[in-house]
Amino acid sequence: MAVETLPRSKSGNLAYTDLRDWLRQIEAMGGLKTVNGANVEADIGQATDVVHHTPGSPAVIFDNIPDYAPGFRVLVNSFNTHSRIAFTLGIPHDLPLAEMQTEWRRRLHEFQPLAPIEVSDGPVMENVMRGDDVNLLKFPAPKWHPQDGGRYIGTGSFDVTRDPDEGWVNCGTYRVMLHNAKQVGYYISPGKHGRIQRQKYFDRGQPCPVVMVLGSNPLMFLASCTEIPYGVCEYDWVGGITGEPMKVIRGPVTGLPFPADAEIVLEGFATDTEKMWEGPFGEWTGYYASDTRPEPVLNVQAVYHRNNPILLGSPPNKPPDEQARYRAFLRSAILKDDMDKAGVPDVKGVWCHEVGGSRLLLAVSITQRYPGHARQAGHVAAMCHAGAYLGRFVIVVDEDIDPTNLEDVMWAWCTRCDPERDTDIIHRAWSGPLDPAIHPDHKGHNSRMIFDATRPYEWRDLFPKVSNLTPEETKVARERWGWLVQ
Ligand SMILES: Cc1cc2nc3c(=O)[nH]c(=O)nc-3n(C[C@H](O)[C@H](O)[C@H](O)COP(=O)(O)O)c2cc1C
Repeated sequence: MAVETLPRSKSGNLAYTDLRDWLRQIEAMGGLKTVNGANVEADIGQATDVVHHTPGSPAVIFDNIPDYAPGFRVLVNSFNTHSRIAFTLGIPHDLPLAEMQTEWRRRLHEFQPLAPIEVSDGPVMENVMRGDDVNLLKFPAPKWHPQDGGRYIGTGSFDVTRDPDEGWVNCGTYRVMLHNAKQVGYYISPGKHGRIQRQKYFDRGQPCPVVMVLGSNPLMFLASCTEIPYGVCEYDWVGGITGEPMKVIRGPVTGLPFPADAEIVLEGFATDTEKMWEGPFGEWTGYYASDTRPEPVLNVQAVYHRNNPILLGSPPNKPPDEQARYRAFLRSAILKDDMDKAGVPDVKGVWCHEVGGSRLLLAVSITQRYPGHARQAGHVAAMCHAGAYLGRFVIVVDEDIDPTNLEDVMWAWCTRCDPERDTDIIHRAWSGPLDPAIHPDHKGHNSRMIFDATRPYEWRDLFPKVSNLTPEETKVARERWGWLVQ
C-alpha cells in the first residue's frame, strides 16, 4: 500500500477547516476512494470490514447508495493510518510512532481550553425538518455487521448533553440505532459522562435534552470518543487544540450547542419511561456481548443537515480495526498523563494495544527507581481514568522495551515475569454489559491482572544479559547489512 504524503500541519493549528476540507486534502494525497452503488443492508458493512482490517487502507466514501438521494453519503475508515490520525490532530505525521506520541503529548500540555462562540447560522442549517416533517429514513444508515439488530445511524457521531446541576456541556460518542422515521435508540455504558448527566434528568422525572451530531469536524469526533476529564467540554478542548474557538449554533428545540459546520444534527428529548430494544450490535471487543436491552429512545423534534450530507461511520469491528488504531494513539497519551499526574515517576512510555481494542491490554515501560515501583505503575495504569473502564491486563516492562512493540512486550513478559511472583489481581473493577468474558447475569464488575515483567528489582543487576545487539549495534548492523533484506 502506498504511503500517504500529507501536508504538514501549520504550527499550532490545523491544516483543514471542516470535514469537507479534510476530505479534499486526504483525496489529493491519494488517501480516499469513492464507491458508487453499495447498499446499506450489507455492502457498506462488508466493505468497511475489509478496509478496517487492512493496515494502511484508504478512507472510503460511499455515494449513489440505492434507495437514497444521490449525494447522501457515508464516509468510513477515516482514521485507520497514523498519518491520517496525525494530520487530523495537527501534528507531524512523518515521525516514528513514539515521537508522534511525544509531539501529541506536548500539544496536550500546552493546551488551554477555549470556549466556542455562538453564531446564528451555518451550513448545517441548509436543510431543516421540524415536527411532522422529520424523516430520519432519508439518511443511509448502514447495517454494519450481519447480526446487528438494526441499522446504526450513529457510530462516527457524538451526543451533546448539559449537566442540569453543574451547567457544563458534554459531547460523547455513543452508538445510535435507527428505530423509525422519528426515533433513535442510544446505548451509553454506566459511568460515562453522558450517562451520568442523563440520569440526573431522569432522577428528577424530567426528559433529557439531547443533540446528536452525525458527522462533523474530524477532530471534534476524536475528542468526543476520548477520555476527556469530567467537567471539561469537548468543544472547549477542540478550541484549545486548534487555537480557534469552535462556531456553534444554539439548538432552537433544546438550547444545546452544535457545530455550525456539522453535516447532520438531530435535536430531541429522551425519557426514562420510553424505551425500545437496542442491539445486538457488533462491539469493539469483537463480539455481540451486550446483546439486546430496552434502552431510552430519543424522540427527534428537529433535523438539520448540509446539502449532500456526509454520515461519518466508525463502527467497531474485531480489533485491531480502525477504531482500535485511533483510540490506541489517543488513549495512550492520556494514560501516560494520568500516570504522571498520579505521581508515578519515570514512566518512559505506555501503549494501549490495538489487539485489545485499546483497552484490554496495556503496556507500560518504566525505569525502576525503588522496590514496588513496577507494581505501583501497573496498578495506577489499571485504575486511572484512561485505563479503568473495561480493562483486563497490564504488563509493566523495563525501559529497554518499546511498549508500542507488541512482540517486544510479549518477549519481556515471557522471559522476565515469573507468574507466582509477578502477578497481582484487582477484584471487582469497572466493567459493564460489553464485557464478553463475564456471564450475562453477572455483568458490571470484572478483574484485572497486573504482570510485572520487569527484571526483579532486588537482583536486577544479576539478571541475565540480553543476547541481542544493543540499539546502537543494531543501527550499525542495519546500515551495513540492511541491503540483504531489501
Ligand atoms: C465508534 C465508537 C463508538 C462508541 N460507542 C459507545 C457506546 O455505544 N456507548 C458507550 O458508552 N461508549 C461508546 N464509545 C466510547 C465512548 O465514546 C468513550 O468512552 C468516551 O470517552 C465517552 O465520552 P464521555 O467520557 O464524555 O462519556 C464509543 C467509542 C467509539 C470510538
